[in-house]
Amino acid sequence: MTTSFDFTSVLRPGLPPAAPKWTGLAKFNFTGGNNDAEQLPLDALMASAASVLAREGRTLATYGLESGPLGYLPLRRFLVEKLKRTAGIACTAEEILITSGSLQALDLVNGALLAPGDTVLIEQESYQGSLNRLIRLGVNAVGIPLDHDGMRVDAAAAALADLKRRGIRAKYIYTIPTVQNPTATILPEQRRVELLKLSQEYEVPIFEDDCYSDLIWDGRRPPAIYAMSTRGGVIHIGSFSKSIAPALRVGYIVAPWDILSRILPLKTDAGSGALEQMVLGEFCARHFAEHVPKLTRGLRAKVETLMESLAEQFGTAAEFEDPKGGIFLWVKLPDAVDIRKLAQAALAAGVAINPGPEWSTDSAYSRSRMRLCFASPSHEAIRQGVAVLADVCRREFGVPVRSANVEQRARA
Ligand SMILES: Cc1ncc(COP(=O)(O)O)c(C=O)c1O
Repeated sequence: MTTSFDFTSVLRPGLPPAAPKWTGLAKFNFTGGNNDAEQLPLDALMASAASVLAREGRTLATYGLESGPLGYLPLRRFLVEKLKRTAGIACTAEEILITSGSLQALDLVNGALLAPGDTVLIEQESYQGSLNRLIRLGVNAVGIPLDHDGMRVDAAAAALADLKRRGIRAKYIYTIPTVQNPTATILPEQRRVELLKLSQEYEVPIFEDDCYSDLIWDGRRPPAIYAMSTRGGVIHIGSFSKSIAPALRVGYIVAPWDILSRILPLKTDAGSGALEQMVLGEFCARHFAEHVPKLTRGLRAKVETLMESLAEQFGTAAEFEDPKGGIFLWVKLPDAVDIRKLAQAALAAGVAINPGPEWSTDSAYSRSRMRLCFASPSHEAIRQGVAVLADVCRREFGVPVRSANVEQRARA
């Protein structure tokens, strides 16, 4: 529709920049948190939809499906059992709020706790969606460096002590402790103990974002920080995006009722999508436990293809650690590479990557780093996409000096 009405004069101040129009997915897409389409349990989801609708479909006539404002009760009951079994969390269905993806969970928790000018601690490399929210809220995000075992708790202690000296009490410590985004690190149990001690000492709650914790190759994980706390003070969020499918938009918050009851009034959408909750409730009770190991086996095979392709095309120019789980590889290229420029040039050649500075509070540290999602491209697309990326990188920055392609051409 063409219109001559100009909305700019009525927009509220401080609105984010205008959204670009969607131009489609890149041919070789290594961005975002997309899942493996081949691994989607489609038949079981279809059967679950049919059976739950036949049995309970008429509850759709009621806001909240006769389950109340916290979300579809059979799904919350599944979560109670699953969180106990996998993460050691002992909670009731009344301590779980189903949300529209864990992005809504982030918004709700932030809405309850943060005001402009507040300070929070966050892993120096972290989820872009979390970092951007803090920037938009006018919150000061103190980046805590990571090592091979996740957040450096000694650095968190130093940051909290420094803030205290300046009369500042952080609002929360945000962490993705179990398969971190983007580094894929797992915070060992001892560090979780130390983090809880810091939380108690400085009276700062922990905000635990656990959405990748089901995707560990050997299925072994430390208990959730939420489970280890003896005094509350932890808010835990999770999602079905990574274990089942992101487009479903179903996540959840686990929190003691005293804080959940303050978060719930901020959820003003009269409930998250009911069909998704019903289908998941039906599917998960029967199939979740057998689906996840199948999915992770497929993801492990894909990351092996990605690591092999990087080694073949970039040689030692691409540095990364073999991840223990998840859907991302966090890759360091030589210092000469300005990853934002590489991302632009690569996109023009059909390869989409996530530049590190968008996943970090430290633009210098992340300048030559990138995040590659290996879950959604096929094995063949991973191989071809990495080859194209290496060609673009060589053309733009002179590295990698030699690659499989160059050697092949030289031999031919
Ligand atoms: C750490 C983390 N938290 C939250 C989300 C949001 O996921 P969703 O809203 O799909 O549950 C993501 C998505 O990539 C993530 O990586």
